[in-house]
Amino acid sequence: MKQKSLFINCFPRLTPMLQQELESLGYTVARKEKMGVYVHGNYQDTYRMNYFLRTANKVLYEVERFRANDPRQFYDQAVAIEWEKLIPNKGYISISGFVRNDHIRDNRFAFMKLKDAIVDRLQNKTGTRPDSGPNSDRTVLYLRWFRDEVTISIDTSGETLAKHGYRKQPGKAPMMEPLAAAVLMASNWNRKGPLVNPMCGSGTLAIEAALMLRDIYPGRFRTNYGFMHTLLYDSINWQKVKREGDELIARNHGPYPRIIASDHDERVLQAARMNAREAGVEDMISFHHCDFRDTPLPSEGNGIIILNPEYGERLGQVNELTDVYKAIGDFFKQKGQGYTGYIFTGNLDLAKSVGLRTSRKIEFFNARIDSRLLEYELYSGTRK
Ligand SMILES: C[S@@+](CC[C@H](N)C(=O)[O-])C[C@H]1O[C@@H](n2cnc3c(N)ncnc32)[C@H](O)[C@@H]1O
Repeated sequence: MKQKSLFINCFPRLTPMLQQELESLGYTVARKEKMGVYVHGNYQDTYRMNYFLRTANKVLYEVERFRANDPRQFYDQAVAIEWEKLIPNKGYISISGFVRNDHIRDNRFAFMKLKDAIVDRLQNKTGTRPDSGPNSDRTVLYLRWFRDEVTISIDTSGETLAKHGYRKQPGKAPMMEPLAAAVLMASNWNRKGPLVNPMCGSGTLAIEAALMLRDIYPGRFRTNYGFMHTLLYDSINWQKVKREGDELIARNHGPYPRIIASDHDERVLQAARMNAREAGVEDMISFHHCDFRDTPLPSEGNGIIILNPEYGERLGQVNELTDVYKAIGDFFKQKGQGYTGYIFTGNLDLAKSVGLRTSRKIEFFNARIDSRLLEYELYSGTRK
């Protein structure tokens, strides 16, 4: 099958972890952008990427690239694409994308032009036309039109990959699953020592960690993707990818390090438990209803303690939180010897109250909030 340019989109600042994941799947990153990476591959490679990537949002398969200054030039080239070889003529298409061109004031106009080109072409060649609309559960196309450069791709993911499928209960301010996976990858957790997650909320960090230990990938929870709704799809190769996923799980027998998650809010903890059950990893995590300071820490050490405290939007909240951040510092100092401590926060001023020296500050965004994963080597100075 023909090699094409694939663009794998992710949240900003997740490209290093996305690259790491792609390389461990055997792909070479050709180019990096702020919100994703380019890889050469064929249509079947998109099945593996959709199934296995934890840090991606969508996998785009390039159909055509051309130059167009205005809607007329755009339509003429879009209608020349052999859509009858790509899209089921009785199907349903939806179009999304990114448009920045002087002749287009509203993205939706460009999407409509592309839809018209596809529908006209199919009507002309086959006598029938697909429906179209906003739903992304069938054929999804992605239009990138920047100045005069146009790229039209199949969005092989369809619905976003950012939802890993197990979180039925959100808790308070939950982390997006790809962000939680990336944060764990950026930490120095060696997957052999314990992982302790006080203030676990809906449990995203603990659950993503358990999924990594068990070799359970996001595709395990999902049955529908955009790639299934084009004429390029072959189910035999998709079944192979699913078998590869199943075999990894079947061959994985541990032993597993301990994962401990706690929260002082009983309802939130209940949600975390339900999410872990949904993900099939409830037996991997021991949940505790307690203040973060009372979270049990396994004595074997050599693991990580990772917290994602609230960081407050109003001043009153921020003042109260100063004491919480200070208490996290005390907890690390008094109980965390032998561990590496991590705080994921969107408020660097609050982080100053922790009162410990960071060994690394790793930049992230949590939605639009500039955030950091702060690392504290808790043995330094306390270990004999
Ligand atoms: C920002 S949320 C964590 C979100 C989590 N990372 C997720 O993905 O769902 C912070 C959590 O800390 C908990 N929390 C706040 N203060 C606490 C304390 N003193 N002891 C234990 N948990 C606390 C809250 O109940 C809340 O669930």
